[in-house]
Amino acid sequence: MPAISFQSVSKIYSPTRKQTGPVVRALDGVSFDIQQGEFFGLLGPNGAGKTSLISILAGLSRASSGRVLVHGSDVVTDYANARRKLGVVPQELVFDPFFTVREALRIQSGYFGIKKNDAWIDELLDSLGLADKANANMRQLSGGMKRRVLVAQALVHKPQVIVLDEPTAGVDVELRQTLWQFIAKLNKQGSTVLLTTHYLEEAEALCSRIAMLKQGRMVALAQTSELLKAASSNVLRFKIDSDLPAHLAAKARITGRIVQFPAHNAHEIEQYLVAVREAGLVAEDVEIRKADLEDVFLEVMAEKVGTSQFFDGASPESSAPAGQSAARETTSVGSAAS
Ligand SMILES: Nc1ncnc2c1ncn2[C@@H]1O[C@H](COP(=O)(O)OP(=O)(O)OP(=O)(O)O)[C@@H](O)[C@H]1O
Ligand SMILES: [Mg+2]
Repeated sequence: MPAISFQSVSKIYSPTRKQTGPVVRALDGVSFDIQQGEFFGLLGPNGAGKTSLISILAGLSRASSGRVLVHGSDVVTDYANARRKLGVVPQELVFDPFFTVREALRIQSGYFGIKKNDAWIDELLDSLGLADKANANMRQLSGGMKRRVLVAQALVHKPQVIVLDEPTAGVDVELRQTLWQFIAKLNKQGSTVLLTTHYLEEAEALCSRIAMLKQGRMVALAQTSELLKAASSNVLRFKIDSDLPAHLAAKARITGRIVQFPAHNAHEIEQYLVAVREAGLVAEDVEIRKADLEDVFLEVMAEKVGTSQFFDGASPESSAPAGQSAARETTSVGSAAS
């Protein structure tokens, strides 16, 4: 039985009477399973639908169609069982300013009917570097510390499935390392982890399998190692002092003076260098490096939705329920209000 099963999940946000703005199709027939014990990454640009999917999983919002199961329990019809198996760290910092850290964790234990939980609460506080803040009021914590408390709150009932929605946004390097050590330990002990992050280095290091969303649709789903193989294998990187001609710039990733070209082989690398020279430019500090997950991500996102080859053993169409592919091409996606 999968730990999480997303089955043709769609979500449409329609403006209420008081709001104006377009209808937003935040999720469009998303289907995939996460197996028990996996460390799974859900990636996508801002507004891709990651938080919408997690909110439906956590029972905070209803899917417009489709269903979601957690260890076989439907998140709508069997909410209590599904919720008990999940520990969700939300993207937004939400906290009750009237309690201390320890009180907040005890109250959260109470929600799940766990009475004597102080040994585990102490272990969580220790592991997340919060031991000396146990009696501090939530208001007195810095932003990064509040995020640590959210992680502790999500784990307080020892959930089998841990869901982290950008847990390291605004978190310092040291805590990121502590947090990942702790989550990796829980994963080794059998917990399933679903992570969204914009730190692609973290995702590459931690996740064994990755799904990518773009405008509410799945555009990649594969083992991390396969994704890295599927992209251009190399990146040519150099510095220049003037602008690249438009036909070259269109193929490059440009950050200030730094230019990067994805390249499949030595021949392509050579062609780029020749083209730069013929444009009368001088490439300095030339380097060739292996493509990383960020390169793969940019490559996947640059493709037209529905054309991606970044699926393990299946095309995007065959991973969607029968009969949906044709409709997918013509569905328009409303633009975000934010
Ligand atoms: N409550 C809401 N009402 C209306 N539209 C919403 C609501 N929540 C999200 N959206 C829209 O749905 C789309 C997906 O948003 P979502 O928050 O799921 O993206 P995300 O992938 O989590 O992005 P980010 O990386 O910025 O967190 C966006 O266009 C967003 O504006
Ligand atoms: Mg989000």
